[in-house]
Amino acid sequence: MSERTFARSRSHLDRARQVIPRGVSSAKRAALRPTPLAFVRAAGSRITDVDGNEYVDYVAGYGPMLLGHQPASVLEAVREQLAAGVLYGGQHEAEAELAERIVRLVPSAERVLLSVTGSEAVQAALRVARAATGRRAIVKFEGHYHGWLDPVTANGPGSPAGSGPTPRPVVVPDHSVVGPEVLVCPWNDTQALADLLARHGTETAAVIMEPVAVNGGNLFAQEGYLAEARRLCDQYGCLLVFDEVVTGFRLALGGAQQRLNVVPDLTVLAKALGSGFPISAVAGRAEVMRVAEGPVAHSGTYNGNALSVVAANATLDVLETKQDTVYPLLERLSGELWRASTSVPTGTEHRCAPSAPARSSGCTGTRPTRCAATPMCSPAVASHCATWPRAWSATAFTPGRAGCGTSRRRTPMRTCPAPWPLSIAH
Ligand SMILES: Cc1ncc(COP(=O)(O)O)c(C=O)c1O
Repeated sequence: MSERTFARSRSHLDRARQVIPRGVSSAKRAALRPTPLAFVRAAGSRITDVDGNEYVDYVAGYGPMLLGHQPASVLEAVREQLAAGVLYGGQHEAEAELAERIVRLVPSAERVLLSVTGSEAVQAALRVARAATGRRAIVKFEGHYHGWLDPVTANGPGSPAGSGPTPRPVVVPDHSVVGPEVLVCPWNDTQALADLLARHGTETAAVIMEPVAVNGGNLFAQEGYLAEARRLCDQYGCLLVFDEVVTGFRLALGGAQQRLNVVPDLTVLAKALGSGFPISAVAGRAEVMRVAEGPVAHSGTYNGNALSVVAANATLDVLETKQDTVYPLLERLSGELWRASTSVPTGTEHRCAPSAPARSSGCTGTRPTRCAATPMCSPAVASHCATWPRAWSATAFTPGRAGCGTSRRRTPMRTCPAPWPLSIAH
């Protein structure tokens, strides 16, 4: 393997640091070693940095590039739209077409609100849930990530050492403003959720979770857990919200809810939807989403912007027409990567055995003791993301892990494997 140098990336970072905190535009990127990289181009599964180093890209833009970089039909649709205008501040035909597609493909979707980022769409989902139920409390889970907006940054991936004992973790706000209405529960522990809802169920608007704990280490819930969460939400009249920002259109065309056969009330979609063009959506039951015709403010200058919408239509067109090849391919690729990763005996930073309980590595992203009890560290097929030893990453551009190793409250990076999103170009 030839020696790589990173001088230009380093000098770019030095320059950027003079005017941009940490020199990066999303904090996660600062975690990359040996240095946060600056890039000049990307195509297919390859990405090239300013020093001329080429990598196999297992970041894929942190998930959106499911079709690989520069997917031809998406770029073609965007080029056509560029000639017709970027932003109208009004409606256009492609918007309704996109919403119709989402309704057709995602089991929980009867109505759709378009936004720009996953974080915003999570915010919109919580607002819809609060308006529809007339309640304030939100239940979120340890180790789950729902974007950077208040209040859902509490107890995200990483190891909040001050979060107290299972099953009643203390809310750790992570510098955000978190009101008393945010309740935190250990994930994948049916009894803990039942107990929490027995205490707070009638004041809870939404139970929000990643249906596969992608950000916490790519973990499936145990058999029956999601269905039980669904049942408990029904019992207490709370809305179940699946954050499918990563799993949407990736784990299956209809997302984790289709593959795992549990239908939430509201679903948050983003990332793979736009092939890199910024777009997100909240989709849900018509009866619940009706509040968006009344009291709920959902607005945004760039919502439904023409470029992102046509990119999303073109993306879904590929995924829908080629679903019989796309999803088996992702399954095969992620399985191969997983098997390759587990055959590396030493120097690895991800120590979970395939299909074995994650007992030692803290790979949920929460404290090791919390993941010992229940979650299964599943093969990478969990979300068509792979978790791979960093020892192998010299020729690959791999995700940094937000916060890990940067604060005393968090576990060192080696105990927080980040998922490696794959694309059909890999
Ligand atoms: C599960 C999940 N939800 C929400 C978000 C936030 O999305 P965005 O970064 O587009 O705001 C992310 C981002 O990684 C995510 O993984």
